[in-house]
This record gives sequence, structure tokens and C-alpha cells, in this order.
Amino acid sequence: MRMIPPPVEPFRIKMVEPLGRTTRRERDKLLRDAGFNVFGLPAEKVMIDLLTDSGTSAMSDRQWAGIMMGDESYAGARSFYRFEKAVRDVFGFDIVIPTHQGRAAERVLFETILDKNSLVPSNIHFDTTRANIEFRKAKAVDLAGAAAYDPEADLPFKGNMDTGKLEAFLDKYGRRVPIVMLTVTNNSGGGQPVSMANIERVSAICRRRKIPFFFDACRFAENAWFVKCREKGYERWSVRDIAKKMFSFADGATMSAKKDALVNMGGFLTLNDPALAARLKNSLIIGEGFVTYGGLSGRDLEAIAQGLTEVLDEAYLEYRTAQVAYLGRLLDEACVPYVKPAGGHAIYVLADKVLPHLPRDKYPGWALTVALFREAGIRAVEIGGVMFGRKDPKTGREIFPALELVRLAIPRRVYTASHMIFVAEALGSIARKPERVKGIRIVEEPPFLRHFTARFEEID
Ligand SMILES: Cc1ncc(COP(=O)(O)O)c(C=O)c1O
Repeated sequence: MRMIPPPVEPFRIKMVEPLGRTTRRERDKLLRDAGFNVFGLPAEKVMIDLLTDSGTSAMSDRQWAGIMMGDESYAGARSFYRFEKAVRDVFGFDIVIPTHQGRAAERVLFETILDKNSLVPSNIHFDTTRANIEFRKAKAVDLAGAAAYDPEADLPFKGNMDTGKLEAFLDKYGRRVPIVMLTVTNNSGGGQPVSMANIERVSAICRRRKIPFFFDACRFAENAWFVKCREKGYERWSVRDIAKKMFSFADGATMSAKKDALVNMGGFLTLNDPALAARLKNSLIIGEGFVTYGGLSGRDLEAIAQGLTEVLDEAYLEYRTAQVAYLGRLLDEACVPYVKPAGGHAIYVLADKVLPHLPRDKYPGWALTVALFREAGIRAVEIGGVMFGRKDPKTGREIFPALELVRLAIPRRVYTASHMIFVAEALGSIARKPERVKGIRIVEEPPFLRHFTARFEEID
């Protein structure tokens, strides 16, 4: 009998999908055909897909019922008003602008407010946010506290912005900063939460300088749950009230509904400033669609409205975070190191520690994603040298990010405790014989977001 008690799923399963089963030989061929890039694998060949928690949630019976009720009118659909009310109730901002996903909200926002001299601070920008900023020749600046980069620091709010750094940055460059962002939870920094106290401080700094402050709010409910569990004074608050308080400190938010709205597609912008909203809507109409659908079907808007209610159910959030922590404890048992504490939506394995024989220029994180698929048909994503490596413009040499991680993102309401055991056993078996795993070389890469489409080969 295992010593670690698994969390009990607070739902029963009404509809099932078969898992992709393959032999090791088939997986080897699949990897070669995909240029050793797990983004290139057919999903039906993946046994357990931990590539992302984005757009991979299982929807509830009520969300599916909402889908049947979708109003597909071009303008002023009933589903839009339900969606708008649900977003207003949770976020508290007046204006709600639907987009087809989170990066579309980012594109609409940044193409409206940035120019090539702009600087955009955040705790740590997610890759699409950074790319949307840098595509406009502006600069994305990460100002997370030092703990965010220390995988062993087992602290409650490692997603926090270093407000001393923010003040110093704004003293120097404030005139070039059209917006300050805060990512909750901090995906690229281990899925770690930001405390209410930190949100309040960032907000005060921005308000004093009259700089708009926006959340990248994809995982706001998981963040609010951690505030309830970890921040003094919030133990008795409902997560809905905590979320409302978080948003009360900001001027708006971009949201990928594919995470904490428990749907497979969707996003939005929400804010209070009508003048800015009018400019955003111009951009929306050109690229996304009319202001009451913004790239989404009426049925998608219904599912988001319902998902925003369900995600604030505390039994769900307790199980959700306990499931991720459970995988963490199984990995502790299997001696697989990861960023501590476990994140809200994912475990971030320290790939360079699992594969100590591979130097950074052999991309140990990428190599681990290849090994994990080959070993057991599990798909994970590298967040390391391939995703965030940059060529030094002067020397042409690669500059590597501080951490070399492989993220095991847990889709919401999809896998059970026994799937977590399977994953931990596969990783444990790689970690016991790391020298079997080869290094990686990049063969072909595009200029932006190279991890999605680059091709690789294995090297000794
Ligand atoms: C923190 C964060 N911001 C933005 C995005 C982009 O959202 P989308 O994939 O819906 O475009 C993601 C997606 O994973 C994310 O994790």
C-alpha cells in the first residue's frame, strides 16, 4: 500500500475517451517523424498528455448543456450578455471584450498601446505575452523576486513581483512604461502564486505614477485559492471575494479562458477605461470579430460563463491543487527534483538535475521531454533553453535562461490519481538511469516562439 493518500476527485465520470497506446518502437518512429519535437506528435498517440493545462479541461454537464443553449446571432447574442455578466461578477470591471484566446487579448492590447520604445514590466511574462510585446519591437521586462529563480526556496508566494525593483525601474524608465502586468499564477516561474499584499503594493506604485496596471489573469482562481490557504487574514474569505479584491487593485486584465474558465477555447479583455476600450474594440473588429463575439461562437461564451462559476467552487480548487501536490509527493518518493513548492497547475521538473550528464547546450529539458515520451508515451513541455534561449546579437552565442525545466501541466478534471502514479513511475525510471538519455541539437528554427515548430536531432 502506498503511504501517500491520493486526493479524491470531487466528480464522477460520465463520458470517457480511450488513451493512446503505442509500443516503444512506434514511439521511437513517431519522435523521428516529429523532428524530436513533441508539439509535432499526433495527440492520439499520446498516452498521458501533460503538454498543457490550456484548453484541455473536461467540461461539466452544465457547460455542455450551455453549449446547446448558445445563441449564434452575429450581434447582441443572448450568450454574450450571459458571458459579460459572469465576467463582471467575478472580475468587477465594467467593460468585457471577448477574444478567441488569451494571446489574441494580448495582441489587441499591445498593438493598441505599445510603440517601439515601450517597456512592459511583469513578474515573469509568459512566452506569448513576451512575443506579442517583442513583435512590436517593445521590450518585455521580468521583475520577479529572487526566490522565483531559486527552485529550492519552498516559499508561499514565489510569484511576487520585486516591488523595490519595480520602483527603481519606473524611476529610471517610467515615461516609457504604458502598462505594468502581473501574471497570476506565475506560469513561467513555476505556477507560483502572488500574494494579496504584493498585488496591493504593485497597484499603489502604479496608481501613484498613473500607470495602468493589468493582470494576466489566466489562473486567477488558483491564485485566489493559494491566498486563502497561505496568506494570513484570508482563511475565512470565499475565493470569489478574494478574486474580487485582487482585481479591485487593477485597471484591467487579459484572460485566457482556456485555463480558469474551464473551457477548450476562449479569452477576453476586461477593463474600466472607456477611451482605451474604444481603441481596443477597433483592433478587435479588424482581427477578431464584432464586439459581442470577438472570435467566439455563442456556445463558447455560454461555456465560459458557466466555467467561471464552477472554477470558484472551493471543493474543486482544493482537489485541483491537491492533485498537483500529490504528483509532487510521488516525485519526491521517486527522487525526481522539481521546483518547490508544487505549482497550482503544474509540476516543474529540474531537468538539468535529472540529466546531470547533459550540459545546457545539449538542451537537457528538451531531451527529457523526448525521453518521457519514448519511455511511457507521456507528453510534457520544456520551459528552458529552447523556449527561452536567446542568441547574443554580438557573439551569436546562445544565452540560457536561469532554469532548465520540464513542465508537467495537469489538465483540469481530466486525469485521476492513478494517472499521476503512472507519470511519477516513468520519470523515476528515467532518473534512475539518466545516462541512457541523449543530448539534443537544433536543426531548424523559426524566428519567434521557436519551440512550437523547431526540428531537432539527438546527439551523443
Ligand atoms: C500566463 C499565460 N498567459 C497567456 C497565455 C496565452 O493564452 P492562450 O494560449 O489562450 O493564447 C498563457 C497560455 O498558456 C499563459 O499561461
